[in-house]
Amino acid sequence: MDDLLELLRAGLPAEALITDPDVTASYAHDMASFCEAGAPAVVVLPRTVEQVQHVMRTATALRVPVVPQGARTGLSGAANATDGCIVLSLVKMDRILEIDTVDRVAVVEPGVVNAVLSRAVEDRGLYYPPDPSSWEMCTIGGNIGTASGGLCCVKYGVTAEYVLGLDVVLADGRLLSTGRRTAKGVAGYDLTRLFVGSEGSLGVVVKAVLALKPRPPRQLVLAAEFPSAASACDAVCRIMEDGHTPSLLELMDRTTVQAVNRLAQMGLPETTEALLLAAFDTPDPTADLAAVAALCTAAGAAEVVPAEDTAESELLLQARRMSLTALETVSSATMIDDVCVPRSKLGAMLDGTADIAAKYGLTIGVCAHAGDGNTHPVVCFDHTDPDESRRARESFDAIMALGLELGGTITGEHGVGVLKKEWLARELGEVALELHQGVKHAFDPLGLLNPGKVF
Ligand code: LAC
Ligand code: ZN
Repeated sequence: MDDLLELLRAGLPAEALITDPDVTASYAHDMASFCEAGAPAVVVLPRTVEQVQHVMRTATALRVPVVPQGARTGLSGAANATDGCIVLSLVKMDRILEIDTVDRVAVVEPGVVNAVLSRAVEDRGLYYPPDPSSWEMCTIGGNIGTASGGLCCVKYGVTAEYVLGLDVVLADGRLLSTGRRTAKGVAGYDLTRLFVGSEGSLGVVVKAVLALKPRPPRQLVLAAEFPSAASACDAVCRIMEDGHTPSLLELMDRTTVQAVNRLAQMGLPETTEALLLAAFDTPDPTADLAAVAALCTAAGAAEVVPAEDTAESELLLQARRMSLTALETVSSATMIDDVCVPRSKLGAMLDGTADIAAKYGLTIGVCAHAGDGNTHPVVCFDHTDPDESRRARESFDAIMALGLELGGTITGEHGVGVLKKEWLARELGEVALELHQGVKHAFDPLGLLNPGKVF
């Protein structure tokens, strides 16, 4: 331990090192519940690439594990500390280095907060689409680590589609540059894509070149109330089949709507079984929304209410973004699934989830990126009751099993971390898992980067 601190101090300023156990403990967890976390030996907060290289060289010399971290808003325990590790927090590397309106790229350090980047590019007439619900807090480095999604993905895709190139400090301290800032480029394996979603297990991202889009018009939202999840899912299928490209297509079930109203007095309709939010950011959103409203009515919507203006639209988005926080107030504990199925199977997924809730005698609230088939069933339970806790874990697993059965994935955007580790092997199969292990070994032969996560 003394060796570790002495070596780290040789390449880091005093304020970049935290050893007070009361403070380091606050860096031990991300936002996932029920994931083990150890006590870090030290937290380091570098400001430069050279300092990150120094940390990795030190870790390699002394064989100390390193857990890279952003804002710790993750939902799978991927950023949780392991005992005796160096927590490598990138939040102080938070500069936007460049916004280029001709190349339509931004070059950023990993600690830039998603919303800060979004606003900065908006001022230049551009748009950085990936928008996790935690966008006011989460960092671009964390978004890259977990391959984050968000509300806009149904039209604009996920983080992976926007990462053109990366600078990455490897486990042994070498600096790797991947990818490009050009519009096209096919030289070599796509190492950039490999890092996106690798959850800090292959290297430490210290710079990213991100693709930007022209800023679209402000979106207009409509809210449609359905008597059942099945009819709302039918509307989703009709909307997609009819060739529409909404900028958002989200679902909140009754439990979620009630929880949001309780938390923030949003005045959402509580009698609806499923509230579908659809939005368009096209030049004439009113016409697009009218077409979608008709499809919702044909699918059985009891009520379809377009927002008056962009301010009201923003309120509906806020309601959706706070769904998870609201559901967390339903009981003393929650476990959050992230199953993504082909959107044609969304109805089966939601009906199956309701069956699982009934079978295990638990409340499972669901919010979903319906247009992506990505559901967040939130299992609510009393963690002081051992039997209820067991049923919660079983239902959480049953939801993943159902997702795989329906041709989906255990995680659409939250990642594997420690929460879904045993499930990854089931999804990948033996061959893919073996290749994953080989890739990990090529990048991190000593197994120092985020050990015990992902697989
Ligand atoms: C959301 C987060 C939980 O969709 O992914 O709100
Ligand atoms: Zn989500």
